[in-house]
Amino acid sequence: MNDQPKKLKELRHRAEEVASASAAGSAGSSAEASPAELRRLLQELRVHQIELEMQNEELRRVQLELDASKTRYFDLYEMAPVGYCTLSEHGLILEANLRWASLLGLTQGKLVGRPLSQFISPEDQTVYYHYRRRLGATVPSPALELRLLRAQAPSFWASLESTPWQDSEGTAVLLVAISDITPLKEIEDSLYRLNADLETQVRARTLHLGQMHARMLTAQEDERKRVALELHDSLGQTLSAIRLMGGQALAGAGSQPGEAERAQLPGMMKALAGAIEEVRRISINLRPSMLDDLGILAALSWLARGFMNTHPALKVSQGFEVEEAMIPEALKITLFRIVQEAFQNTVKHSQATEVRLTLGMVGDRLTLQISDNGKGFEPRTPGQQDSLGGLGLTSMRERTEFSGGTFAITASGGNGTQLVASWVLPEP
Ligand SMILES: Nc1ncnc2c1ncn2[C@@H]1O[C@H](COP(=O)(O)OP(=O)(O)OP(=O)(O)O)[C@@H](O)[C@H]1O
Ligand SMILES: [Mg+2]
Repeated sequence: MNDQPKKLKELRHRAEEVASASAAGSAGSSAEASPAELRRLLQELRVHQIELEMQNEELRRVQLELDASKTRYFDLYEMAPVGYCTLSEHGLILEANLRWASLLGLTQGKLVGRPLSQFISPEDQTVYYHYRRRLGATVPSPALELRLLRAQAPSFWASLESTPWQDSEGTAVLLVAISDITPLKEIEDSLYRLNADLETQVRARTLHLGQMHARMLTAQEDERKRVALELHDSLGQTLSAIRLMGGQALAGAGSQPGEAERAQLPGMMKALAGAIEEVRRISINLRPSMLDDLGILAALSWLARGFMNTHPALKVSQGFEVEEAMIPEALKITLFRIVQEAFQNTVKHSQATEVRLTLGMVGDRLTLQISDNGKGFEPRTPGQQDSLGGLGLTSMRERTEFSGGTFAITASGGNGTQLVASWVLPEP
């Protein structure tokens, strides 16, 4: 294909020779070319004419292909849904497609030769600066999101991705693709706002639930107190009166009642004494009156003694290093209920032989600790709730937290269980 011009030239030269020879012949001068020679040349000329026509055809086909790929290039590069530009090493725009120009509201001519940084909003200049410094010579960079300035329009959010490249002359350039992500950002923003709203609502609801639960616990304690008083004052008194009357009847009974009725009286008296004791026990459990009469330290000691009496295999030791007067009234029932539940758990689950109860100041915190030497267990994290089916641990934690304290359990298997509840005491 490369020697085609030479061939054509040679052909032209020979054709000229033949033409001038035949012209001379026809003028009667001595013919230099024989007829055979002329025929051969004529044949050669025809061949070349055909060859030229074929080449012409081929050229037209190539021209059409070129036109088609130019259109394809225009469609693919200029009308792509993302903006493309080529940046020099120094960040100057060397080339930009139509989409890029329309994104910025300018013509392509107004972009070329200007630094890309001119189109970046002032808020994102630093980000862009660091991005360019980070750009590796060979590695494509991760996408960067920033705001771009648009002529006579508000700025918009764009995602910028770049790949290092070498142009046809071997110069290092950067191919940059830019897409408008404003709609995405708007969705992201509204999701963020929605999420923040939801979080606020959840926080408010949780706070409300907490307050409701705290109020419920107080109401429950008030109700227990009322029921305990009722039991003591009405049923307890009535039972006691019956016992008294029964006792008198028994003592005064001479010959009037029949032997059979008399024989039943001691059994009745025993049952009555049992019922009175039962009412007393229920009433104390509902609301230990010594909490109000003697204070929390006495009530805790009483609780410990009670557990040792009912569970002789369990040794309960205690250490109180705090004055009764230092403990806020409102906290007393909380302390009592926590210790009550902790003792019950020890008896129910731990197989412990010893329990240690302490109450004292650790730093500025009133600290309650109940430890046993039982088999321990795997406590859940607070988020999972402490409860492994029961309510005791949850109730201890909630009572502590509602009263402004913190609650922790250490209970690795085999090393016993330790519960710690602590509160910062208000200024006296
Ligand atoms: N001192 C302990 N030693 C060993 N395991 C314990 C101890 N305290 C609690 N546990 C374990 O934690 C679980 C949960 O205790 P929690 O007090 O919440 O419920 P419960 O005692 O089973 O039921 P409830 O207290 O509602 O009557 C218990 O079932 C037990 O497996
Ligand atoms: Mg329990």
